[in-house]
Amino acid sequence: MKTDELSRNGFGGSLPVENVQSLATKNLKDIPSRYIREEVEFDIVSIDESFRIPVIDMSKLGHDDEQQKLHLACKNWGFFQLINHGVGDEVIEKMKMDIQEFFKLPLHEKLACAQIPNDIEGYGQAFVVSEDQKLDWGDMLFLLPLPVPLRNMRLWPTTPPSFRTTLDKYSMELQKVTIHLMKLVAKNLGTDPEMFTSFFEDGTQGVRMNYYPPCAQASRVIGLAPHSDSTGLTLLIQVNEVGGLQIKKNGKWIPVKPISGAFIVNIGDVIEIMSNGEYKSIEHRAVVNPEKERMSIAAFHSPNISTKIGPLQDLVKAKTSEAKYRTIPHEEFLRLTISSKLDGKGLLDQMKL
Ligand code: OGA
Ligand code: NI
Repeated sequence: MKTDELSRNGFGGSLPVENVQSLATKNLKDIPSRYIREEVEFDIVSIDESFRIPVIDMSKLGHDDEQQKLHLACKNWGFFQLINHGVGDEVIEKMKMDIQEFFKLPLHEKLACAQIPNDIEGYGQAFVVSEDQKLDWGDMLFLLPLPVPLRNMRLWPTTPPSFRTTLDKYSMELQKVTIHLMKLVAKNLGTDPEMFTSFFEDGTQGVRMNYYPPCAQASRVIGLAPHSDSTGLTLLIQVNEVGGLQIKKNGKWIPVKPISGAFIVNIGDVIEIMSNGEYKSIEHRAVVNPEKERMSIAAFHSPNISTKIGPLQDLVKAKTSEAKYRTIPHEEFLRLTISSKLDGKGLLDQMKL
């Protein structure tokens, strides 16, 4: 993809495809073949209920024990649930309510926020790059609330009327949690907390609101194909009571059971790279339910655009090891994110030295 085809965010766009929510209401006997993934039925899903991602209590993170627990969660799992994070229930509940209202609107109303060519923001699907690519059983509304001056308000829903204020509040609160976590992550890694958090202070935040309709052939489709998040840190909530998030560990898919009110937090590629591989960005996916719709909200946090993406120099030096990843300008990293989606190569593989 040529540079001049990229949007201001450097993300590029997606080919328009059918709206899955409206496709699902047709109650088709046969799901179109573009959604069928024969391999999904053979994947191993763990049924061991005791195998759970760690739970981190943010209100205890001043204490050494909890701080160490956070370190091990980032190192050994790349995923954890965050409780007592300080974001008010009312902020989260309102966000859940408003996005449910939005997805309930008739298609033509939702299309007021439809993706525009060459931009990843808006209502539609992410990263459909070829006409014969398999498709995910889901729609999404993707917006970039931060930095504030770059908001594309044209794509922010006006129904329900509170949506914009709700997302604004939600975005600010999650950014605060992220900064707080980054400070603790920096301490655990042994890098300068002030410098590390400053990368994220005027950083980019993307919010992806996912809608997965029920599917009569749920075991043969996938809501969101396996991926790792290319960004820094993700904070996710499940909107209704329907599960579907799974993470890959030791070759098996492990279903995540969300704790009510908690954030599911995961390390993205950017932090894996910055930590020089000490923390891992874990592959995950979303499966769909045969009877019930599922919704989730993922908020991705990245360093600001002037931050170089590469292993932190002080870490590499302190551990007298060698950099395991390349260091490149942030904009180039974003372009690499797209090109690796285009040719199916892992982004991290391309960054590895
Ligand atoms: C994502 C994601 C999982 C889910 O949006 O990047 O991994 O449960 N979502 O919807
Ligand atoms: Ni993800």
